[in-house]
Amino acid sequence: MKVFGCGMMRLEIMLCLAFILIHCKHSVAQTHSQDYGALISLTTGWKNLPEGWTGGDPCGNGWEGVTCINTRITTITLASMGIVGQLTGDLASLSKLQILDLSYNKGLTGSLPPNIGELYELTTLILIGCGFSGRIPDSIGNLRKLVYLSLNTNSFTGEVPATIGNLKKLYWLDLSQNQLSGSIPVSNGNTPGLDLLVNTNHFHFGMNQLSGTIPPKLFSSDMNLIHVLFDNNKLTGSIPSTLGLVQTLEAVRFDRNSLSGSLPSNLNNLTNMNELMLSNNAFTGPVPDLTGMNTLINVDMSNNSFSATDVPQWFSTLRALTTVMMEQTGLQGKLPAEFFSIPQLQTVVLRNNHLNESLDFDTSSSQQLQLIDLQNNSITSLPRAPSSNFTLLLGDNPYCKNSLTAIPYCNNQQELDSTSSYLTPVFCVPPSCTSGMTSGPNCKCAYPYTGFFILRAPSFSALGNPNYFTRLQQSLLHSFINMSLPVGAVSLSSASTDSFGYLTMKIQIFPAGQDYFNRTGVFSLGFVLSNQTYKPSQDFEPYNFLADDYTHFGGGQKSHTGAIVGAVVASIALLLLLVCAGGYAYYQKKRAEQATKQANPFDAWDSQGAYGDVPQLKGARFFTFEELRKCTNGFSEYNCVGAGGYGKVYKGILDDGLIVAIKRSQVGSMQGSREFKNEIELLSRVHHKNLVKLVGFCYDQGEQMLVYEYIANGTVLDSLSGTSGVQLDWIRRLMVTLGSARGLQYLHELADPPIIHRDIKSNNILLDDRLTAKVADFGLSRLFGDADKGYVTTQVKGTMGYLDPEYFMTNQLTEKSDVFSFGVVMLEMVTARRPIQGGKYIVKIVKTAMDREKDMYALHEVMDPMLVSSSTTQLVGFERYVDVALKCAEDSGIDRPTMGEVVKEIETILKQAGMNPNADSMPVSQSYEGADGRNSHHPYTDDSLLQYGMSVPLTKVVTV
Ligand SMILES: *[C@@H]1O[C@H](CO)[C@@H](O)[C@H](O)[C@H]1NC(C)=O
Repeated sequence: MKVFGCGMMRLEIMLCLAFILIHCKHSVAQTHSQDYGALISLTTGWKNLPEGWTGGDPCGNGWEGVTCINTRITTITLASMGIVGQLTGDLASLSKLQILDLSYNKGLTGSLPPNIGELYELTTLILIGCGFSGRIPDSIGNLRKLVYLSLNTNSFTGEVPATIGNLKKLYWLDLSQNQLSGSIPVSNGNTPGLDLLVNTNHFHFGMNQLSGTIPPKLFSSDMNLIHVLFDNNKLTGSIPSTLGLVQTLEAVRFDRNSLSGSLPSNLNNLTNMNELMLSNNAFTGPVPDLTGMNTLINVDMSNNSFSATDVPQWFSTLRALTTVMMEQTGLQGKLPAEFFSIPQLQTVVLRNNHLNESLDFDTSSSQQLQLIDLQNNSITSLPRAPSSNFTLLLGDNPYCKNSLTAIPYCNNQQELDSTSSYLTPVFCVPPSCTSGMTSGPNCKCAYPYTGFFILRAPSFSALGNPNYFTRLQQSLLHSFINMSLPVGAVSLSSASTDSFGYLTMKIQIFPAGQDYFNRTGVFSLGFVLSNQTYKPSQDFEPYNFLADDYTHFGGGQKSHTGAIVGAVVASIALLLLLVCAGGYAYYQKKRAEQATKQANPFDAWDSQGAYGDVPQLKGARFFTFEELRKCTNGFSEYNCVGAGGYGKVYKGILDDGLIVAIKRSQVGSMQGSREFKNEIELLSRVHHKNLVKLVGFCYDQGEQMLVYEYIANGTVLDSLSGTSGVQLDWIRRLMVTLGSARGLQYLHELADPPIIHRDIKSNNILLDDRLTAKVADFGLSRLFGDADKGYVTTQVKGTMGYLDPEYFMTNQLTEKSDVFSFGVVMLEMVTARRPIQGGKYIVKIVKTAMDREKDMYALHEVMDPMLVSSSTTQLVGFERYVDVALKCAEDSGIDRPTMGEVVKEIETILKQAGMNPNADSMPVSQSYEGADGRNSHHPYTDDSLLQYGMSVPLTKVVTV
């Protein structure tokens, strides 16, 4: 250790000694000398290492990017540092290393040292987007604990090591975007191969030079693969029928190879498939029958050599399709009109086929359609112009040649629109930023962490539809915040589909609270995305992230001497801190108490002692009027996302980046401080995963507002009506029913005092990123617009169509009124109809149409068409579900089940469907107050009421 620069004056000597003592003690005690030596040797000569890496104790001094257990280095994560250097054999001496992530350092070059295979504790090896080359060493197969192996986007050459087959614990294998060549290794005698990886979920091998045939042995029914990506290689031969044995598959890409032969006829065994991309090969035989692949969303078989095939039946029966790419596939005959009624259909490219006769659209053609390209077919007429607004291309069809005058849709267009103009919206006034900083969606100037977010098998093609991007952006932001990463905003832009079939977009991640990320922040963000810790919804999987360097750390480069001086100062500060610690802690506690008092809006009148104790607001925050005004852009119309009897709902982004929904009560509907306080206390005590969380409230400047978490995927109503782009298959409907039933059960049976929701409807059930149901607006009817003083009047509140007839007639509210409304929601799940549609009432419609003697109760006519297309075996428990729904919707409360009983029934159905309802056992208790039917009419026998439709909130005031 060099100690020059110390020693002139006695004080300084003492300080130096103190420094050295502390310093040496740390390096001896904290980091094992083997690890220290290995790390120093490994990184000697590396450029752009973190600044703090000069002091001699990685574990003790907390080197950024290094974590230890006891004295041993277990994790090294150094994403996006612009590191220049090579990985030498010294790496192997870090023998307790579990996680190594050096992603996004293009300056890391050379080959991997063969003794990397000695890192026996390694679970995670991630080297994405670096400059590594040479062969992947066979010794990689010795890393028996490996779970994540991501070597994608480098320049590795040579063959895929067969020894990878020894990695029995591997979950994620990504070798894509390299220059790997040779054939796909499978086991043979004592030689291992990829077929042994029965626990692996991900085979990502796209964009290499792999050649030879796909060995039939590669796939078997023992495997658990979800994503198999071999796109953009040089594979030949046919696709083996063993692929059809891997039932777990959700995304398969063999597009852009030189494959030939017929496609295996058992392909449609793969009933979990979402994305199937087989385009640009030389497949022969007929276009395969995909009947039964009911979750198929995106299919691309363009540019193959299929024999002439009549338009397949699955064109009309696969109702989840968004994208059908079948250019030049030998298709002939007439396109069925029902094809265009597939609810989420977005892009259809069928050019260069032999489709003939007229082109008919079902009048209800999909709301999401953006492009139908039928150029160069044999279509003769277009009896009725399509009603919706999308691009229709009919050039080079007889239809266009029959007239001398210009005919609509006949202009030829060569280029598909493969770019999106989407840009994350900004709800505030962007400031002008200085010196290289960028203003984010939160209108703060900062240095964002940037890169590309790449969807490798996109489930959507409607690049003009902002919903997908909004959902992805919000899900990214929410996840970062939930993981306590210092992120203030996320922005997406410049999305486009490239010639490899990938959807790439630019991503900017903005820091929270300051204008740059520190290194730990960058390493953590890099790792969350490189290690796939961030899980988006299925629409966006599988993804890949490629980051740019991040160099905007605060402060300049410090010299070595500077570091020592800094350390001395730090040591003194530490001593002082220790001395002062007790006093400081005391001071902080006092200060916190003071701050709470000042921020407590109820303080003024609480102190008078008239209303009891200070409010107990568990976890809820106080907001000032000014704060909420600012984050909603002055409660602008633009930010307004809903309105009800109580007032309006605004979307806002808080300073810390959290997106919230703010309910602002109308002046007329406000209640006194005491009631407001009581209600807030009540709501802040209610915590359940199926209830929308109250973030806080505002009671300031004569305003009463509630601040809730913002839920990204819209309402169940949006989803059933197809406006949100969120699709619910039968199982998801069961899960959503179960979730919302559990939320309601909690309110009825576990909240203290019990809460009756009073306004259960499909637009009060929200869906989050993972499609978890969240009941919203509970307790609201107590809070707003119900200035019920408990005497003179009671009000019947609720929404027509959902309103309990017994409650309507007797004004006696019980939990069973919620149960009735819930039954109506369940019927919406079955029919995708509004409760009152065209003057008809949903309960009546179902009861009239049903025949309990028949299969599916003969409800096909009134069912959601999306469900009709599913095979009967997939609609497990359908009849039982309808029974529960109708039981809930009985006229008399006493005949309805409790929510606890509903939960149990749905759990049973899910179990029958082979799903794990993840049952929490909850006590079931229920008291019921009987009520008789005097005083008023049954609401659904009065036709005049039905004419209002269900969206009119109903308030009946009755004098008692
Ligand atoms: C349309 O094509 C089918 C299949 O090639 C053929 O059988 C049919 O006769 C054609 N229709 C007309 C009107 O040419």
